Amino acid sequence: MAGLNNSVIPSFSGQLEQYTIIRDEIQSALDRVMRSGWYILGREVSAFERAFADYCGVSYAVGCASGTEALALALMAVGVGSGDEVITVANTAVPTVSAISMVGATPVFVDIDEDFLMDVGRIESVISKKTKVIMPVHLYGQIADMDKITATAKEHNIPIIEDACQAHGAEYRGRRAGSWGSLGCFSFYPTKNLGCFGDGGAVTTNDKRLYELLTMLRNYGQEKRYYHSIKGINSRLDEVQAALLRVKLNYLDQWNEQRRRAAGWYCAALEDVCLCPNEKPDARHVYHLYVIRTKERDRLRVFLDEAGITTLMHYPVPVHLQQAYRDLGYKVGDLPVTETIAEEILSLPMHPAVTKEGIAYVAKQIREYFTKRNKST
Ligand SMILES: Cc1ncc(COP(=O)(O)O)c(C=O)c1O
Repeated sequence: MAGLNNSVIPSFSGQLEQYTIIRDEIQSALDRVMRSGWYILGREVSAFERAFADYCGVSYAVGCASGTEALALALMAVGVGSGDEVITVANTAVPTVSAISMVGATPVFVDIDEDFLMDVGRIESVISKKTKVIMPVHLYGQIADMDKITATAKEHNIPIIEDACQAHGAEYRGRRAGSWGSLGCFSFYPTKNLGCFGDGGAVTTNDKRLYELLTMLRNYGQEKRYYHSIKGINSRLDEVQAALLRVKLNYLDQWNEQRRRAAGWYCAALEDVCLCPNEKPDARHVYHLYVIRTKERDRLRVFLDEAGITTLMHYPVPVHLQQAYRDLGYKVGDLPVTETIAEEILSLPMHPAVTKEGIAYVAKQIREYFTKRNKST
């Protein structure tokens, strides 16, 4: 690290840079909530829910405590429970599957395609009488092939719950993430494209009945105060987080555009040395993560670390091979594309405030690695 110009090296996810840009607005929103004297399920949450539903192009949004609980609440709302199966992917954040386990259901995995998304051609083969939901994951900021998933789901009369936790503002054929399924689930974990200053989540829907159910499920099943018509949980977005999200939502399109621009810089600098992410036709990728593929992943990662560059792997161990999910009975070889990809993926620094110089530095280091490697072989 000696002699490195640290100011050029981009941080991995840029939370502090983002805060610095909107600090005054955040401070005044914070003060507004504190002075209101009302901290749970109030005006801020309602206003954010309205704004976020409009943003996603749906009728309703229901704030909740995290993306994991958004998924669990969505599953509860469509009546998924013990003995039911939910079709999803194993190349995802574990919480996709935690939510399925939380409601007592069983995840059934399908392999992914070369764009890291649910391989739609494989869904039919795992549909059974127990299948209650198809849960595609819009991983890294790109929407799965929703035309085909919707067609399969319709044919079998199975609802879709989108895991849109990494895809705020992503589009496919002009429709946004969260507007395709019966329900769409979002995380506002701080590093997300729309992130709060703690945990938070939301479920989107066009279905009034599901909306009403979700508003009860997240609040102990209350229909009105102290009258509980169904069994629910406590999973609420608080007023502070909602107020801060309202500020950030105004920047989301601009920030997504900046991520897309940064992705373009990476691609121009790297496409001849490694596999860069592909934006599918008709898609608007919002690059929550910028994930390259190379068989040299582990050695490259060490090299970049020595150059002061933080990289991560999303995800090093697919869910079906995680110790916690051994009981599902999957083994190595069951999901070949997922397993190959898990050994090759590397997430590079990506956020709206990343600079052209920062990306040039990362790209230069990556090129240097491959030049040195080629010389030594
Ligand atoms: C694809 C995906 N699903 C679900 C989640 C869970 O969200 P949270 O961390 O807000 O519970 C995340 C967040 O890490 C995610 O990336």
